[in-house]
Amino acid sequence: MTRTALVTGGSRGIGAAISIALKGAGYKVAANYAGNDEAAQKFKAETGIPVYKWSVAEYDACADGIKKVEADLGPIDVLVNNAGITRDAPFHKMTPQQWKEVIDTNLSGVFNMTHPLWNGMRERKFGRVITISSINGQKGQFAQANYSASKAGDLGFTKALAQEGARAGITVNAVCPGYIATDMVMAVPEKVRESIIAQIPVGRLGEADEIARCVVFLASDGAGFITGSTISANGGQFFV
Ligand SMILES: NC(=O)c1ccc[n+]([C@@H]2O[C@H](COP(=O)([O-])OP(=O)(O)OC[C@H]3O[C@@H](n4cnc5c(N)ncnc54)[C@H](OP(=O)(O)O)[C@@H]3O)[C@@H](O)[C@H]2O)c1
Repeated sequence: MTRTALVTGGSRGIGAAISIALKGAGYKVAANYAGNDEAAQKFKAETGIPVYKWSVAEYDACADGIKKVEADLGPIDVLVNNAGITRDAPFHKMTPQQWKEVIDTNLSGVFNMTHPLWNGMRERKFGRVITISSINGQKGQFAQANYSASKAGDLGFTKALAQEGARAGITVNAVCPGYIATDMVMAVPEKVRESIIAQIPVGRLGEADEIARCVVFLASDGAGFITGSTISANGGQFFV
């Protein structure tokens, strides 16, 4: 049976690696994105994976987008909540807008995407909900009160929803990447990046593919006994 997967923020960075890995594992894949049309079209041309534009921060847009993907590819079996943003600032300088944008995307976005899919997964007695949280949701990070709160919230969501999905054949898990060499991390000044690498016991940034492999495993039928779990993929930087 060919299963269908939807990856939010699936056209760039970690999400692109996840989309490609799931396709390679035999899934029909749809990749959502927010606004970078150029990157999305390039990704589509290179991979053959269809792309769909809407913001995960808007509930109605998610419900409509999901309907469109399901009309094109069939019922979604695997949801990967990968879309995420940062708006870093030390707390005394953080604006309500910076707080809201991050919570709306990284935390409410996970609700907005999972909720419209939930009943269908329950009816079909199968589902995989995999959310990309972060090491900084586990340990906190200077200038990321908004981001750390959103990513810690994703872990609470995962543990609560796992309990509701279990009897319906739906697993709900999270992956907490450490620092991965994507646009998000390469955008920080080189000096800061070097100081980050100095804190990673394996001595390098992670690769997006290394996160994608965690997702492919959690998505598989064979991972049905794993739910409410978090895979930490951080090069030994932080142990829970
Ligand atoms: N990179 C890291 O080291 C790292 C570490 C821990 C956790 N993470 C988490 O991993 C995930 C992916 O990070 P990344 O580094 O790959 O990010 P990235 O390179 O900045 O890519 C982010 C992706 O999310 C999409 N996106 C952003 N806001 C969205 C919205 N409102 N609706 C729909 N899509 C949206 C973007 O779409 P557009 O292309 O249209 O902008 C893009 O496809 C994030 O949740 C991030 O917090 C990353």
